[in-house]
Amino acid sequence: MENETKALSVGVDLGTSRSAISASSGERHLVLSYVGWPVDMVARKVLKQDVLIGEEALENRLMLDLHRPLESGLIKEGSDRDAMAVRELLQQLLTLAGVSEAREQGIPVRAVVGVPAEAMRVNKQQLRASMEGLVDFLMIVSEPFAVAYGLDALLHALIIDIGAGTTDMCVMNGRYPKDEDQKTLTMAGDSIDDQLEQLIQTRYPEAHFSRHMVTAWKEGGSFVGQLSGKIMVSAPAQGKPTDFDITEDMRTACSALLPPVVEAMIDLISRVEPEYQAKVRNNVILTGGSSLISGLGAALQEALLEVGGGKVRVVKDPAFVGSDGGLAIATDAPDSDWETLAT
Ligand SMILES: Nc1ncnc2c1ncn2[C@@H]1O[C@H](COP(=O)(O)OP(=O)(O)OP(=O)(O)O)[C@@H](O)[C@H]1O
Ligand SMILES: [Mg+2]
Repeated sequence: MENETKALSVGVDLGTSRSAISASSGERHLVLSYVGWPVDMVARKVLKQDVLIGEEALENRLMLDLHRPLESGLIKEGSDRDAMAVRELLQQLLTLAGVSEAREQGIPVRAVVGVPAEAMRVNKQQLRASMEGLVDFLMIVSEPFAVAYGLDALLHALIIDIGAGTTDMCVMNGRYPKDEDQKTLTMAGDSIDDQLEQLIQTRYPEAHFSRHMVTAWKEGGSFVGQLSGKIMVSAPAQGKPTDFDITEDMRTACSALLPPVVEAMIDLISRVEPEYQAKVRNNVILTGGSSLISGLGAALQEALLEVGGGKVRVVKDPAFVGSDGGLAIATDAPDSDWETLAT
């Protein structure tokens, strides 16, 4: 990497529901983590493409064999399609950020890829294989560490990244985090959606709705704690558009996140050297799409009262926090921290 200044650096946040890339050229892109292949000859003729990625894949899902390459924080294994889906998604992100063009011009590309802490342990080899031939130098880091780096919260901080597939937590002690500084819970946005879907179906058996509608309802009205007003949604019942009150179900489904997150948060804090625990408690950073649940930061802060009180800050615009952090790591990391990939 002699030619440091001419290298293109990118940070990639490989997420269950959305993936993001930030490049040193200034490019930033967000892609929904869906990859789909036309189910048959008719679908291929209609779609005129061999593979669809992101929003486009989701929109045309009825014509596709649709895959979400990550689930519960792990890269799915077992089928060729899942392995291919990870690669297609990575390739799409890298292409959007101009990586292929750079490499064609002989500019080396260095990528930091952030994945859920659990995938770091289990899927590192698979991810490395998926990146082969796409970039020259690679570093795989845990997602909450990338977030911490991007926010410059490297010392006495606790990052809580509540995404779709996982809640990833990481305590920063001023050095690369170790396994015992991190935790991954599979309770996150997807599990809220599962529960909300079941609750609404039980309460209103006549309502006809899809999982995607449930997710959209949640994103429009998620909350924990008190709410003035009601969450009303519209869905067909016997073919007729009908309004349903889902306030209580929304509260129940979103609140289910609290006990496991609070328990893990307090456990991680209790592992910190005693004299620094108060500093960490006062520097809890909440990010990820599910951090947008109204009242969540306040509820976690209230839970900290049990252990002496603290402060929870919610990141304003969580979409690019992970990929920007990956880019910052890529920019700072010395040569010895990178692994060279086969081309
Ligand atoms: N306003 C909102 N209220 C509640 N949840 C929301 C809101 N907006 C987005 N979400 C949820 O946030 C999740 C996506 O967040 P994010 O993009 O951080 O996840 P991800 O990085 O794809 O997943 P992971 O980090 O688990 O791999 C989805 O479950 C989505 O429904
Ligand atoms: Mg994420």
